[in-house]
Amino acid sequence: MEEAPRGADVVAHYEHATEDYELWSPGYNMHFGYLRRGLSPFRREPMLEEMNRQVRRRLGAPRRDDARLLDLGCGVGASARSMARAGHRVTGLTIVPSQVRRARALNERAGLGERVEVLLQDYTRADALAAGGFAGAYSIESACYARGLGKRDLVREVSRLLRPGGRLVIADGFYRVPPSRLGRTARGLLRAIERGWAVESFAEREAFRGALEEHGFRDIRFEDVSWNVAASVAHVPFVSARFLLRAALAGRRGLHRERWRNVGSSLLTTLIGVTVPWFGYFLVSATRGP
Ligand SMILES: C[S@@+](CC[C@H](N)C(=O)[O-])C[C@H]1O[C@@H](n2cnc3c(N)ncnc32)[C@H](O)[C@@H]1O
Repeated sequence: MEEAPRGADVVAHYEHATEDYELWSPGYNMHFGYLRRGLSPFRREPMLEEMNRQVRRRLGAPRRDDARLLDLGCGVGASARSMARAGHRVTGLTIVPSQVRRARALNERAGLGERVEVLLQDYTRADALAAGGFAGAYSIESACYARGLGKRDLVREVSRLLRPGGRLVIADGFYRVPPSRLGRTARGLLRAIERGWAVESFAEREAFRGALEEHGFRDIRFEDVSWNVAASVAHVPFVSARFLLRAALAGRRGLHRERWRNVGSSLLTTLIGVTVPWFGYFLVSATRGP
């Protein structure tokens, strides 16, 4: 039996907003992209896929059947499918029932149903999964949904699930300083983004590092990739315009509040440049100690 989901606000948000990500990414990548030399800043999907590749590279996991990866907050499984295409076996977790159904259907359609499993499980208490069962774990723009600035509940659970020597990679927005030290404009903007995406609070760098250390992680590395991500953020107004046009043409006056909140928060990210001294996008990697 699958566990009943918790985090009702997050579930409600994604039950309504998930389908809109199809406009953002035909492959259903529900995250920002990574621009590296050789990619075009005008082509979004390759940048979104590159984010998956950057995460995979930092995981450095062997492509063996006994070296399964864990996707913490998998959406409808785009990153998990990407890992599977590269030869990995992946278990994805989400607390949104419709995402589980959609992800399983997309996995089957891609012929990856054997390599990717998707479970309805809270990543802070994944009771269905055995301790030490994973060679690597990653979370792309999902760790922000765990509670607190240090995301301790999530870090504790990943520490249980990873085998010693296993790697953890997180791609997400982080406060560079405690939010209480932010200026009013930056605080107001980031708070509005958090609310629109049903996030209690983004993580704060030092609090997160502290949680990792406390739960036995070492070789902790924070890489500021804000500028690599910026090119894909610049696509948001164009995608939002398509969303609004589509909504207007469909005459769907009663568009659900969560869908407006999603598009509102996405649009606000285009102003995030003003928060650069306090907030950034990071790739965090760490190794589970013995
Ligand atoms: C922005 S989406 C990112 C999805 C995916 N990582 C991607 O990049 O396409 C955030 C995801 O986090 C998941 N999530 C939030 N809180 C969670 C929790 N407590 N346990 C498991 N998943 C969670 C949501 O269900 C959603 O799938």
